[in-house]
Amino acid sequence: MSEMLRPVTIPSIASVVFDEATIAAAVGRLAAGIARDLAGEPVLLVGVLKGALFLTADLARALSSELEIGIDFLVVSSYGNENRSSGEVRMLKDTSSSVEGKNVVIVEDIVDNGLTLAYLQRVLGGRKPASLRTCVLLDKPYRRQVDVPVDYVGLQAPDAFIVGYGLDYQEKYRQLPYLARLHDWAFEA
Ligand code: IMP
Ligand code: MG
Repeated sequence: MSEMLRPVTIPSIASVVFDEATIAAAVGRLAAGIARDLAGEPVLLVGVLKGALFLTADLARALSSELEIGIDFLVVSSYGNENRSSGEVRMLKDTSSSVEGKNVVIVEDIVDNGLTLAYLQRVLGGRKPASLRTCVLLDKPYRRQVDVPVDYVGLQAPDAFIVGYGLDYQEKYRQLPYLARLHDWAFEA
């Protein structure tokens, strides 16, 4: 849907790319895929903060009656305060519990160049989880620099910088319930 259907009052928002209903439907599809593949198994969702904050919460609730769910978080930084990847991924905060022996699903907001997920799959995969899967809300396949396997993809993102539903630009706009693109002038310092 576009902003024509529901006015966007934040001036720097150019248009709504995916509205709440579209996001909810995508989360439902992600949950269905995880429930199908891990039927009867306990699952540990590992959300990547801060971007996957809302996705992890919504996914956990969508799975709540299907699977036994644990929730953990880690924090990585790869972008600094810029809208471009520096290529450097750092673990700022690790999970609070061990992933060894668990059916781990990494929950990430978006896969762009792939470096963040490649790093996390390498690190978590080295800790002897029973299984390791990756779930993202948004995919920008045309931006990939490293080939990284993603088991569950919610939506194909347009070739634009997206904010909202956890995704930020300079720590702003995470709180938006929809996914949106910004006007070009909004990226100026
Ligand atoms: P990758 O390492 O390039 O795959 O980067 C993934 C991370 O970059 C995500 O977790 C986001 O924090 C950030 N990112 C990539 N594209 C966007 C975007 O369009 N909007 C907001 N953040 C983005
Ligand atoms: Mg992120």
